[in-house]
Amino acid sequence: MYGFNVKYIRTSMLLLAALVGLSVAWYSVSRALFLVIFLSVATLVALIALSRNTWSQTHTEDPRAAAMPARPGKKFSTTVTRRRRNAEVLSPETTVSLAEERRTADIEDVFTALDRQLVGLVPVKKKVDEIASLLLVDRVRQRFGLQAPRPNLHMCFTGDPGTGKTTVALQMADLLRRLGYLEKGHLVHAMRDDLVGEFIGHTAPKTKRVLERAMGGVLFIDEAYYLYRAGDSKDYGQECIDILLQVMENDRDKLVVILAGYRDRMDEFFESNPGMSSRIAHHLDFAPYTLNELLAIGNAMLDRSSYYLSPEAELAFRDYLTIRMGQPRFANARSVRNELERSRLRHAHRLAADLEASRSMDDLMRIEPADILASPLFASSPLTAIDRSS
Ligand SMILES: Nc1ncnc2c1ncn2[C@@H]1O[C@H](COP(=O)(O)OP(=O)(O)OP(=O)(O)O)[C@@H](O)[C@H]1O
Ligand SMILES: [Mg+2]
Repeated sequence: MYGFNVKYIRTSMLLLAALVGLSVAWYSVSRALFLVIFLSVATLVALIALSRNTWSQTHTEDPRAAAMPARPGKKFSTTVTRRRRNAEVLSPETTVSLAEERRTADIEDVFTALDRQLVGLVPVKKKVDEIASLLLVDRVRQRFGLQAPRPNLHMCFTGDPGTGKTTVALQMADLLRRLGYLEKGHLVHAMRDDLVGEFIGHTAPKTKRVLERAMGGVLFIDEAYYLYRAGDSKDYGQECIDILLQVMENDRDKLVVILAGYRDRMDEFFESNPGMSSRIAHHLDFAPYTLNELLAIGNAMLDRSSYYLSPEAELAFRDYLTIRMGQPRFANARSVRNELERSRLRHAHRLAADLEASRSMDDLMRIEPADILASPLFASSPLTAIDRSS
């Protein structure tokens, strides 16, 4: 607003100065000299105006376009992006290396992080790799000027609690940003309460606020099936779903929606909402972890925090997991993490019980069976591997 005013004040002042200058010249110099001065000033002004116009035409800088990857059909493309794209179009005889493109996109870190953070999950990692390949090839095709609709990347992550859905979604958002598919690559986590209102007229603004926050990144809707209540015609969830469907279709170059939840409930949700089902391009199923995987996850978690299980403690932890897996509210890797945190507490308490004793670095790192077996879970199942082996 202020830029607009300043611009016009400046122009008026210049015009006024020119008028005053011309009036003075009219009365103080000969008519012939006045004509020469007038023509010179007019030519100079015309030349300046012409060059400024040319500059602005070739340097239109839309900040949104600068942040967006150059790709055909982009809504925000400007002179800058068009010129950059034209300059980059490769001739059909050129050959390119996908490995080089992958290095340029700098996505190796994402795969390293996925491998380092997440034990197992081989089918999920494979699917992530496939999606990365699709986008990588899409990038290279654009460099050759090959036109194709943008791939649809809305996804559904199904699996039990604690199987790594949110962790993978975060990595996915980063991957999509690096590959130029998303502008920002952040993740907005939402559940029914964040999207659906309780009164008439509340739902649309609520949903739109969340969508606005998620633009340029990933909208991760946990337990998405709660959006829809079968048989409840008064529920506002449907209004939210309708808005989501529209945005998933029209703004799919600016936002990726990931729906998450239990597999059977998601299947029911899709059956009742075929529009939603048809907009989901990729389904990633997160299988529950096996006992050995849970143990490996636990060891990896401890390793990252410079702790480890003694061989006997590992047996005790295996027993703990065997019992815990059969109990209600078992949450896979999250249950592992929670129990290990409790074990650290017991370990610290055990060491602190004898404050005068000398402790080595190893003492400070090693979790012993006592730190596991003190769990109340063993009170109801007292038989452990340690008992069995002795
Ligand atoms: N395969 C794995 N290897 C190592 N750690 C894991 C693995 N899977 C999950 N975790 C860890 O378990 C915890 C829970 O994972 P996350 O929140 O991603 O699960 P989720 O599937 O989203 O769970 P929920 O459905 O309850 O939201 C996180 O600390 C995560 O790092
Ligand atoms: Mg989660």
